[in-house]
Amino acid sequence: MCGIFGYAGYRDAAPVLVEGLKKLEYRGYDSYGIATLDTHLDIHKKQGKISETEGSFPKLRGTLGISHTRWATHGVPNDVNAHPHTDCTHRIAVVHNGVIENYFELRKDLTAQGHTFLSETDTEVIAHLIESHYQDDLYTAVIEALRHLEGSYALLVLAENEHRIIAARNKSPLVLGIGDGEMFAASDVAPLLDYTERVIVMEDDDQAIITPQGIRVLRAGNAVDRPVERVTWHADEIKRGGFAHFMLKEIYEQPGVFFETFRAARDENTLAIIRDSPQVTAIACGSSFHAALLMKYFLEEYCRKPVRVEFASEFKYYTPPVSGVALAVSQSGETADTIAALRKAKQYNCPTVAVTNVQGSTISRAADKTIYMRAGPEMSVAATKSFIAQVAVFLQIANMLTDGKLNQALLHAHQAIEETLLVDLADAVALCKKAENLFYIGRGAFYPVAMEGALKMKEISYIHAEAYAAGELKHGPFALLTDITPVVAICPGGITRGVMISNIKEVKARKAPVIALGESQDTELRDIVDCFIPIRSKGPIPQVLSATVILQLLAYHTARELGCDLDMPRILAMSVTVE
Ligand code: M6R
Repeated sequence: MCGIFGYAGYRDAAPVLVEGLKKLEYRGYDSYGIATLDTHLDIHKKQGKISETEGSFPKLRGTLGISHTRWATHGVPNDVNAHPHTDCTHRIAVVHNGVIENYFELRKDLTAQGHTFLSETDTEVIAHLIESHYQDDLYTAVIEALRHLEGSYALLVLAENEHRIIAARNKSPLVLGIGDGEMFAASDVAPLLDYTERVIVMEDDDQAIITPQGIRVLRAGNAVDRPVERVTWHADEIKRGGFAHFMLKEIYEQPGVFFETFRAARDENTLAIIRDSPQVTAIACGSSFHAALLMKYFLEEYCRKPVRVEFASEFKYYTPPVSGVALAVSQSGETADTIAALRKAKQYNCPTVAVTNVQGSTISRAADKTIYMRAGPEMSVAATKSFIAQVAVFLQIANMLTDGKLNQALLHAHQAIEETLLVDLADAVALCKKAENLFYIGRGAFYPVAMEGALKMKEISYIHAEAYAAGELKHGPFALLTDITPVVAICPGGITRGVMISNIKEVKARKAPVIALGESQDTELRDIVDCFIPIRSKGPIPQVLSATVILQLLAYHTARELGCDLDMPRILAMSVTVE
């Protein structure tokens, strides 16, 4: 959560930082702030979104600066709690992504020493700690201050007398960008892409001294070598490109993303690890968890390979028996719970594989092997193309484990996504947007699809939506069905169709309106439901993909009709870097 961005170069820093922050806004957007350095520090910080400041940003002087977009952890979103935070003299400024776990004790000690705090944040202790160690060298003061900190941080620090930025990382991501006469530091590569494709990914416990002329990476005062990597993403990929929202753009990118990821995920070495494992344990959160549940269906159904799927946030707190490979699934590769669960899996000495979208991310560096999704940057907080990319990875694994038995089914999979993009959802949206509660039901692989559909709906439209395995509805949730509680039922062909029809009739008998996704020619289903959405593809795998896209679009159009902020839903953030 939170995005930080620093610039040291020859341009006016403030406009560079404003534009950069907009690209990091998906990480948090309740307030923003910038500090620039000329002869003295200029600071501007405010509650609200940086993207809504158009033209109203005050002039800040200097070609060196640091900036922040916030997702509040300590203290409500307001102007005072916005970063940067400063020391008592206002000559040291700090932006921070992470959580300082011992901030309370530190604050007590610093207050007793005479420091005055202005905000409720954990971050402010860092500025005062640096102040208390500062003599004439900012870097030395920062490393002294770091010794006192427990928790996670990616930090950028400025001090009035020094024309450089000090960066430090521990458990929160930080990349450095190398330009020509200008250098950058950011929570991820998105703000760097307009300027450079050369980056250094900082490791935990690294610090960096950043000047317009260059970057030195150090650890406790000693220089270290870190490789310069080339970023494969392009600046165009983080533009909306004519779409009203990133979410819609990313939904439309899915045919290509599926195709590319499926092709690129063919990795014999990693497959050998999975093939040799008696069991696969997947750890993930949110949408990635749902994608992992789909993998369970694919690998167990088609390959007879046992798969367990655990919430990363639960896995790290108990001691399950684990045998075989642990798969950490994460779009960002920076989700704190998944990182912690991956570290726990490593304690079992099991081989680990990361499935992630982000080159050089913490999860990819921590795992023994990485399978990269080819989704490109996902800018919308609601995951769409990254989910499809994860499914593509898992289908490739299933296909390789069965020596190509799924080839035929997969041949036109990306077309199943493409032909779904233009589905007419007007009637379904009309039903959903009036509802306060929605149920989603499905069976087999369509149950995780229902879970993902319900998550999309609730996170962007704020309508309460719950998914159930269709057979479970009558074991309690039935009590909640009314004539204003629509049920979205995924009812394609195959062995579950008959029993799904029975479940739908039971729902109808309670007068709840039913929106059904079914095969185009299923007239029996069409006749019994209130709203029918045709799935044109054939076979379970293409239908899983089609149904996923239909439910993404249903959530998108419902939220749009309700006037919700689609790319930045309230309170949420893309990359959940706190546990
Ligand atoms: O980056 P990750 O895949 O680890 O993120 C996990 C979840 O926070 C994420 O999937 C979240 O549920 C989605 N953004 C929801 O659309």
